[in-house]
Amino acid sequence: MARITAGVATSHVPAIGAALDNGRCADPYWKPLFAGYEFSKDWISRVKPDVVILVYNDHASAFSLDIVPTFALGCAASFAPADEGWGPRPVPPVEGDPGRAAHLAQSLIQQDFDITIVNRMDVDHGLTVPLSLMFGQPVLWPVRVIPLAVNVLLYPPPSGRRCHELGKAIRHAIESYDPDLNVQVWGTGGMSHQLQGQRAGLINRDWDNQWLDRLINDPEALARMPHIEYLREAGSEGIELVMWLVMRGTLDLKVRALHRFYHVPASNTAVGHLILENAI
Ligand code: DHB
Ligand code: FE
Repeated sequence: MARITAGVATSHVPAIGAALDNGRCADPYWKPLFAGYEFSKDWISRVKPDVVILVYNDHASAFSLDIVPTFALGCAASFAPADEGWGPRPVPPVEGDPGRAAHLAQSLIQQDFDITIVNRMDVDHGLTVPLSLMFGQPVLWPVRVIPLAVNVLLYPPPSGRRCHELGKAIRHAIESYDPDLNVQVWGTGGMSHQLQGQRAGLINRDWDNQWLDRLINDPEALARMPHIEYLREAGSEGIELVMWLVMRGTLDLKVRALHRFYHVPASNTAVGHLILENAI
């Protein structure tokens, strides 16, 4: 049986990709940020997932504002790094997993999640920066990736509760897949940040850290947090955090945090990072 062996959460700031791609990781500004991922890179090289279901948001790279799917599952054989205005990142293409993605699509839709099936899309910093943080700079990514793009760009995004329930449905889908497979689910984006308007630059350390505590210990209650609280406390882009609830929904109620990291500054964003496993 395929099994979800761990959940990973991380922010996805585009400047982190630029720091890596331009050899700036040892700069005083970036060094403490990358230090927070040393444990994770070592851990993932040992646990070797076969497949990552990578929950992320597209930033108007694959989807223009003409068409905005709420939940879009990448079913293609590969996904090219997107050109976000300064050329695609110099990272390997992302190898998909069409057979398993098709199983996931069928199971999720039969569990009443009306996801959009995407057979071609480029993937932006929302997906490639988390891969870089976890795997560094390999010639090829050492894992297959099933992208799950969530709309957190154009109001209304899905509720935290819906995202958490989607995670539970993903778990059911994976566990109904016969072949032995080591699957991880990653939730990306966040934490507090606001890129625009009068509150641009907003960071809320206390709120972020309480949010992390609640994600670990009380996800059912956290999932009921309304959008307006994210907006008020974590800034307009803080809503990206609902994607971490998809990851959390794929795990048991009781989890343990193998690794927890929080760092400010990284561009305009408070960076959070967790590795979670079921407690038993
Ligand atoms: C930044 C963060 C994001 O999540 C994003 O999508 C774009 C920019 C930033 O902090 O600069
Ligand atoms: Fe973002």
